[in-house]
Amino acid sequence: MEFAKRMERLETGIFSKLAEVKARRLAEGKRVVDLSVGTPNIPPSETIVKTLLEAAADRSNYVYAISDLPELREAVATWYQTRYGVTLDPANEVISLLGSQEGLSHISLAVADEGDVVLVPDPCYPAFADGPRIAGAELYFMPQRPENGYIIDLDEIPEDVARRAKLIIVSYPNNPTTAVAPPEFYKKLIAFAKKYDIWVLHDNAYSELVFDGVHGGSFLAYEGARDVGVEFNSLSKTYGLAGARIGFCVGNRELVGKLAKLKSNTDYGMFIPFQKAAAAAITGDQSCVITTREAYEHRRNVLCDGLTEIGWPVDRCPSTMFVWAKIPAKFDDSEVFAMELIRRAGVIVTPGSAFGPSGRDHVRLALVQDEEKIHEAIAAIQESGILY
Ligand SMILES: Cc1ncc(COP(=O)(O)O)c(C=O)c1O
Repeated sequence: MEFAKRMERLETGIFSKLAEVKARRLAEGKRVVDLSVGTPNIPPSETIVKTLLEAAADRSNYVYAISDLPELREAVATWYQTRYGVTLDPANEVISLLGSQEGLSHISLAVADEGDVVLVPDPCYPAFADGPRIAGAELYFMPQRPENGYIIDLDEIPEDVARRAKLIIVSYPNNPTTAVAPPEFYKKLIAFAKKYDIWVLHDNAYSELVFDGVHGGSFLAYEGARDVGVEFNSLSKTYGLAGARIGFCVGNRELVGKLAKLKSNTDYGMFIPFQKAAAAAITGDQSCVITTREAYEHRRNVLCDGLTEIGWPVDRCPSTMFVWAKIPAKFDDSEVFAMELIRRAGVIVTPGSAFGPSGRDHVRLALVQDEEKIHEAIAAIQESGILY
């Protein structure tokens, strides 16, 4: 018996490998500080949990949801208006996702046929590339270089590639580089998409985790954005709801409609109590968002400053829940360095190469541990002598 060829395009991924090494170390009774996977450990607010519990206690909420509750779509429209100054038609320009990862893995199926080009950042969140791979699309990687502040240079994309492209996926604030894009980038992106008839997917998972008083925005706030694309958003990090799998696709009605049609063939909608909790999260008191942002910002300061003090210079990153650090000069491969770091210090980080070839000389450290554990990691790295 055989399996589909498309499975050969997908990899098991570095996280399974790291999990194995971690399990082995723990079994040997050795210490581990895990800064690899971006699983948030800041819990949802009291109000969100209360709404979820009340809805979960109502037995009529265990039916198939099939589609979004009108109250959820309206809540998303209100949220986009108040938070980003973007007006959305709740009936046609909003659809929920079972986590934005689900939408990322499906949207290319709605846009690209086998062999069509999808433009993907390098380095990038792995699902940006895996979704198009599942669809059988040809990937063209757009480098995000440190010398350009990690912002994609659209002028570098060859004309023939742009002409064959059906979809461009971009995301700022960016995982893993932590870059935040300036308004000029979005204006150029919209003009580029219009010139070549390419759909845009902007993933805005980290708009609320921008630090140092800078305010994150929305792609849809730019003129013409809605003509060419959609934005994905996620409640995973902002509201501590990662396990509930709540995301949204908003924007261009044609593209939202096509994704809705595709999803009507693949799932029966989001668990109703999650829908109610989501509406409560985005329309309720937003002080929990500030608390979450401050917690990540504080962890960022502790980690970046602490690493710099011990001789691993790492600038304070401007956004997200990650730190993107250049590996020490004596290493030239992020995976080799990451494995050595586990072996010698018990600190688990993600090799930059897991996000694409451009990440080869970086590692990503997730701010998913509290301050005490971060100090423990810094001390362990210093004691290991791995930096020199
Ligand atoms: C850029 C980016 N997009 C999407 C996701 C997935 O979010 P969700 O939990 O909504 O699937 C992540 C998760 O780490 C992410 O970093």
